[in-house]
Amino acid sequence: MSNNSNKVDVTLFFLVSLIISTPAEEVRPVKFPLVVSTWPFKEAVRAAWRTAESGHSAIDAVVEGCSTCELLRCDGTVGPGGSPDENGETTIDAMIMNGVSMEVGAVAAMRYVSDGIKAARLVMQHTEHTLLVGEQASTFAISMGLPGPTNLSSEESIQKWVNWKKNSCQPNFRKNVLPVNDCGPYHLKSSMYLDEKLCSNTERVGLDESRSYHFGLHNHDTIAMAVIDKKGLIAIGTSTNGATFKIPGRVGDGPIAGSSAYADTEVGACGASGDGDIMMRFLPCYQVVESMRLGMEPKLAAEDAIARIARKYPDFVGGVFAVNKNGTHAGACHGWTFQYSVRSPDMADVVVYTVNPEISTT
Ligand SMILES: *[C@@H]1O[C@H](CO)[C@@H](O)[C@H](O)[C@H]1NC(C)=O
Ligand SMILES: *[C@@H]1O[C@H](CO)[C@@H](O)[C@H](O)[C@H]1NC(C)=O
Repeated sequence: MSNNSNKVDVTLFFLVSLIISTPAEEVRPVKFPLVVSTWPFKEAVRAAWRTAESGHSAIDAVVEGCSTCELLRCDGTVGPGGSPDENGETTIDAMIMNGVSMEVGAVAAMRYVSDGIKAARLVMQHTEHTLLVGEQASTFAISMGLPGPTNLSSEESIQKWVNWKKNSCQPNFRKNVLPVNDCGPYHLKSSMYLDEKLCSNTERVGLDESRSYHFGLHNHDTIAMAVIDKKGLIAIGTSTNGATFKIPGRVGDGPIAGSSAYADTEVGACGASGDGDIMMRFLPCYQVVESMRLGMEPKLAAEDAIARIARKYPDFVGGVFAVNKNGTHAGACHGWTFQYSVRSPDMADVVVYTVNPEISTT
């Protein structure tokens, strides 16, 4: 009896796949290009869409899209003029990945140059390296023709920083140091390394108190944008000016391949935004793409990656989108309501999808 039903199952399976795969082949040409981006960064998505629609590569479209966000200073957290660090300085993190060759180019903590995604592309296309950092990244970018040195501060970012200083430098990203409720210079608590147990307990308390305080909507938004071009080839890029009032030198998930973004033309792509200091410990986008490679639907792959972080850090704030090579997309998030934007041939304009944080963490 079970043999019989197996045979029926197998026959059904072939019939169904025949029915499904035939129209899919016909539909394919109008599926692409496809642009997916974190947040309602509509102008950026439109710019990428126009580029891909006119026949340019996924890489070019990603650069167009992310550059648009840098120029518009999307949410004040992409491009120049936002997210001052403890010294009031704005720096840039950006990354681009070619899902065909798996080449990556990235810049981190780049000073004095506002074109993050273009600098990342220069690293990818004109060096054998993957990641350049700090002032040396700026020197490289300028030597390769990007404008600079530029003052990346704005009236707004300086004002934000001045207010923060007035507020005794609260909130900040320090932990287990003195003074606790004041500006630096900071030093270790004297008993710090005497009792390891005490030390790790203290750390955990600091973490729980501070995480959700730092990261909210419009405080830490990275643009992560995936493009599937007309040929079905995939690229992804990110750009951000990082976390507000970060410790100078801090680099988040933005320029880390597999964390903020990942793409493989054979499978699909993933983009992330949120508490990068936590997310980069889990490489959520690498996990999403690998889950899809093993056959998981984008929705489940996204939820699984987020749930894995939430199990260890119940207070973390973040979201990911996943898109497979078919163009099926989904999102998942934790600790906030996440949004991502899509433009495809069957849409008249960009459509914004809202994802609610309804994820079981068990
Ligand atoms: C792509 O779409 C076709 C038709 O809907 C489906 O049969 C196939 O499994 C899909 N592939 C992936 C990776 O989702
Ligand atoms: C950079 O720009 C900010 C904001 O306009 C300004 O306050 C600051 O003095 C400038 N820095 C330099 C070195 O010119």
